[in-house]
Amino acid sequence: MAKTVPGKQKAAKIVNIGNLLKEKRTFTPPPTFTKQAHARTKNIYRTAKSDPVGFWENMASELVWKKKWRQGLDWNPPDAKWFVGGKLNVTESLLDRHITGHTRNKAAIIWEGEPGDKRTITYYELYRQVNKFANVLKNLGIKKGDRVAIYLPMIPELVVAMLACARIGAIHSIVFGGFSPESLRDRINDAHAKMLITADGSFRRGQILPLKHDADIALADCPSVENVIVVKRGDFLLRIKEGRDHWYHRHMQEAESYCKPVYMDSEDPLFILYTSGTTGKPKGIMHTCGGYLTGVYSTFKYVFDIKEDDVYWCTADIGWITGHSYITYGPLANAATQVMYEGAPDWPDQDRFWQIVEDNGVTIFYTAPTAIRSFMKWGRDWPDKHDLSSLRLLGTVGEPINPEAWMWYHEVIGGKRCPIVDTWWQTETGHIMITPLPGVTSTKPGSATRPFPGIETAIVDENGRPTTNGGGYLAVTKPWPGMLRGIWGDRKRFVDTYWSKWPGMYFPGDGAKIDGDKYFWILGRIDDEINISGHRISTMEVESTLVAHPNVTEAAVVGIPHELKGSCLAAFVTLGNHIDINDKLIANLKDFVVRKIGAIARPDRVIFTPDLPKTRSGKIMRRLLRDIAMGKVMGDTTTLADPDVLNRIKKRYEED
Ligand code: WT7
Repeated sequence: MAKTVPGKQKAAKIVNIGNLLKEKRTFTPPPTFTKQAHARTKNIYRTAKSDPVGFWENMASELVWKKKWRQGLDWNPPDAKWFVGGKLNVTESLLDRHITGHTRNKAAIIWEGEPGDKRTITYYELYRQVNKFANVLKNLGIKKGDRVAIYLPMIPELVVAMLACARIGAIHSIVFGGFSPESLRDRINDAHAKMLITADGSFRRGQILPLKHDADIALADCPSVENVIVVKRGDFLLRIKEGRDHWYHRHMQEAESYCKPVYMDSEDPLFILYTSGTTGKPKGIMHTCGGYLTGVYSTFKYVFDIKEDDVYWCTADIGWITGHSYITYGPLANAATQVMYEGAPDWPDQDRFWQIVEDNGVTIFYTAPTAIRSFMKWGRDWPDKHDLSSLRLLGTVGEPINPEAWMWYHEVIGGKRCPIVDTWWQTETGHIMITPLPGVTSTKPGSATRPFPGIETAIVDENGRPTTNGGGYLAVTKPWPGMLRGIWGDRKRFVDTYWSKWPGMYFPGDGAKIDGDKYFWILGRIDDEINISGHRISTMEVESTLVAHPNVTEAAVVGIPHELKGSCLAAFVTLGNHIDINDKLIANLKDFVVRKIGAIARPDRVIFTPDLPKTRSGKIMRRLLRDIAMGKVMGDTTTLADPDVLNRIKKRYEED
């Protein structure tokens, strides 16, 4: 494809749906793939449609239950209860059932550290470690229902820590290691976590991320935390606070090797995971035991078509929902073997991922469009140096994939033989919702295709009425097992955010279109959240951070298309009197945001303006700012309180 010059596509193309819908290429599943797949025909869709609850009950019955449920679903919008009356401990489905028979000595995790150190952990070893660590938690006073914050790098102890919580019914709340001390502090305090599990540090592009040091800053203001467990990842300098801080390895040495699982109600919480919202405050999304596990188990099985001898690799961090669902819970429930990698894709070289695929014979590879665009930019020489013939299935998640990136993934990484599953879902949905089934569904580059069996989605207008021509809002019209059950401590926000737009239907916040084949094309967020490299950032959160800077009086942040990241942030900033504008101040403001939120929220552009364009009622005209930031021609400006402001902003932007 002559157009596909890596790194040279126009940014606008990535988000322009006009281009997506002109996409006419379709790819049918290779017959050899279909022949061996878990799902070979469309029957699974028909079965699920005729009795969705029964379909999910069948999926649930493949898991280990202490007591069977008496009712599949109790739906009292917006409250769903799945597998009512059922009792289980999720770790029995992930571990106990795999430690007899041939899976006992099977590799659960083939881990690789960024510096090149390797560890392979079998199901039996993982089982032992989880049991021991569950006892460590118990000995430090953690009980069912307590919240445990986890701030760890991508090391096996992260999986051990989350499952040890699940073993004793404690609720884990994982905070991505790239988040700042302040973000960590806010999440700990919102959940009133009793304990923090962290590490001395982690490796990233050869540098050390000082996790414990950052955690100490956060902990200065976290009164609920009684104990801190520290995993020794390297030999990084740190301060140990006697009485509060405990070494992981010391406690593990002394711990008993069996911990009786605490049986949970199907609807008891399993974890909280914070995600950004349209206000500055992150939302603690709550997931439960029975429904969530059923959802991730079954989607993992059918979407990734997992088989006994597959080597699966998801490149996400466990700090995000992708890692929760498709590194920890989904794969382990399926007794899969997976690769887990600690570091950056370009360390020490831009072929690190392909080296890992080759070394381990990876068969299923799941990554984000933003990563694929980086690989394209780095050039095909890097993957071409490696034998990638073990791959049989590819996946993407996190944001709409532009057809150019899809085609590159298909040709260069998949050698034109691997189906691609473009999977749409969210922190809130818990598991994959819209996706091809790789042995059944024909794919079109840029479309996540159709809802998973048992899931119903629609494109609706403002009033919740279905639209078939053109676009609209994406809606989920039926309850599903992994649906969020609430926002931690904020019932009203849960109802307002997701359930108040249309009665009884879930509002995910995405725009989408549907084509003549009933394929869904996700356009992206329609609210104030921006998807940067597949991660959600609230523009409000960045704005409120910027105005907290002593030199800033007002700020408006908008998302604009970015060639690699999908979107990036442009910040319009009004300064206090007598503040000099210079490069140092720009760097300073960007760093300020990184320090307060984390590197993913760093604005790409800071544009100074004497004033912000506002409507007469005082609302900042974000659309206009977006247009300015993107260099578009300006539309009608008569609603501006001070029309001249715009021209001044535009001028600044052009000078910048
Ligand atoms: C938002 C959810 C799902 C795990 C990672 C992100 C966007 C996600 C796709 C896709 C188009 C996608 C949506 C969604 N998104 N997957 N395949 N195609 N857009 O989880 O941080 O909760 O973000 O990511 O906008 O609402 P998250």
